[in-house]
Amino acid sequence: MSAQRPRTGPARIQPARRIAYEVLRAVHESDAYANLLLPAKLAEAQLSEADAGLATELSYGTLRRQGYYDRVLSLVTGRPLVKLDPEVLDALRLGAHQLLGMRVAAHAAVDESVALVAANGKRSATGFVNGVLRTLTRSTPEEWRERAMAGLAGDQLLASEESHPLWIVEAFREALDADGRSGELRDLLEADNLAPRVSLVALPGLSTPEQVGELGSVSPIAARSAGGDPASNPVVASGRARVQDEGSQLAALALSRARPIRAGESWLDLCSGPGGKAAVLAAEAAIGGATLLANEVIPARAQLVRNALAAFADPPEVVVNDGRAVASSGELFDRILLDAPCTGLGALRRRPEARWRKQPSDLEELGLLQAELLDAAVSVMAPDGLLAYVTCSPHRAETRDAIAGVLARHPTLVALDTPAVLAGIATHSLDLGPGLHAQLWPHRHGTDAMFIQLLIRPAAPL
Ligand SMILES: C[S@@+](CC[C@H](N)C(=O)[O-])C[C@H]1O[C@@H](n2cnc3c(N)ncnc32)[C@H](O)[C@@H]1O
Repeated sequence: MSAQRPRTGPARIQPARRIAYEVLRAVHESDAYANLLLPAKLAEAQLSEADAGLATELSYGTLRRQGYYDRVLSLVTGRPLVKLDPEVLDALRLGAHQLLGMRVAAHAAVDESVALVAANGKRSATGFVNGVLRTLTRSTPEEWRERAMAGLAGDQLLASEESHPLWIVEAFREALDADGRSGELRDLLEADNLAPRVSLVALPGLSTPEQVGELGSVSPIAARSAGGDPASNPVVASGRARVQDEGSQLAALALSRARPIRAGESWLDLCSGPGGKAAVLAAEAAIGGATLLANEVIPARAQLVRNALAAFADPPEVVVNDGRAVASSGELFDRILLDAPCTGLGALRRRPEARWRKQPSDLEELGLLQAELLDAAVSVMAPDGLLAYVTCSPHRAETRDAIAGVLARHPTLVALDTPAVLAGIATHSLDLGPGLHAQLWPHRHGTDAMFIQLLIRPAAPL
């Protein structure tokens, strides 16, 4: 590779590329969340819809495929990437995504990456960046793929090619195998690398899916966003509909529609922030004459729950408590949602940098918290009460193991046939795997990989 000087003067940097670069820098420099930072930057810059779409693809696509691009870039540079200045590495990643993942015009991808480095205090590295990216342009993306994957096999090959950490690939393989879906691993990894369609929920009693947009695909209360900013939809703007993954909708409905609601029932959402499922439960509770209490341990997130419930004429109470201490109130509940804090491995397509931040060691602490929250929830189940344990992760430790653990610790608790309950709710057959739990998958259902298990505490032996 030759480190030639760029031939022309500095290129003008398109706002979409500048914003995408700023997002990458903030993610890597200060642990920012791209899905929170980018919308704020887009709103501030008032980009056109097309430019906003470009900035989104540039930033999210680069972050999702970072592992793959890093492998190609280390081939080209012939040196460990940790030795590069972070400002230079992010410009190279952004350029690589345009050249290998988006196929934008080579001169724009190269010249603007060079200009970004120059504009960010690394003028001395412009020749290097220009040389590396020009080298990328001299072979096709397929040729680079072949070179980068040479010598790899099995899950290591899949992990590199589909840009996921190996431990996540292995965890997904195990979860898919247990769900009777061996052979679907690549489909799942590919789905994680695609931008999800924005889905909306029409809150029952406040709006209908028909008023919101086109109908959704699996949830009976879902609608599809017509594109652009969902907040520009008047039903969303009024709080009667919200952005929500269809898997999350089904998780809330599994609890509220598992059996008819008796007026006067008392419901608890134990870990409710930021309030997506609480809004669905509040809507269902209002229709059935039940009362919902929403709990959340982080005050700022509890405020988000209050905001999510503000559209209701008589909004449910939101309290700030550690869910593990819920028994201290002495109250019992007929239905409880425990949407547990988890690794979020089921929503990697929404949080583009998340896969690189999660660590297998996260599972230990979360596993303990999930077990303690489960025990707390069980302790406040009324006789014949229902509990929905939900995670946005298919990892065995957070799903089947957590359920096996709570059933072993509470022998009177019974697992309900959750796929059978969902079969009566979903608008299409979900073709769920074996077992009493429901595991949804992005590549199969177009939803996040939600895990749902309904449990009952029978008043008398079943
Ligand atoms: C997966 S999120 C819940 C998402 C929510 N159900 C929704 O649909 O918007 C888990 C929530 O649990 C909260 N949490 C974590 N530890 C908790 C605890 N000990 N007690 C109560 N809430 C907790 C987190 O702050 C987070 O808001």
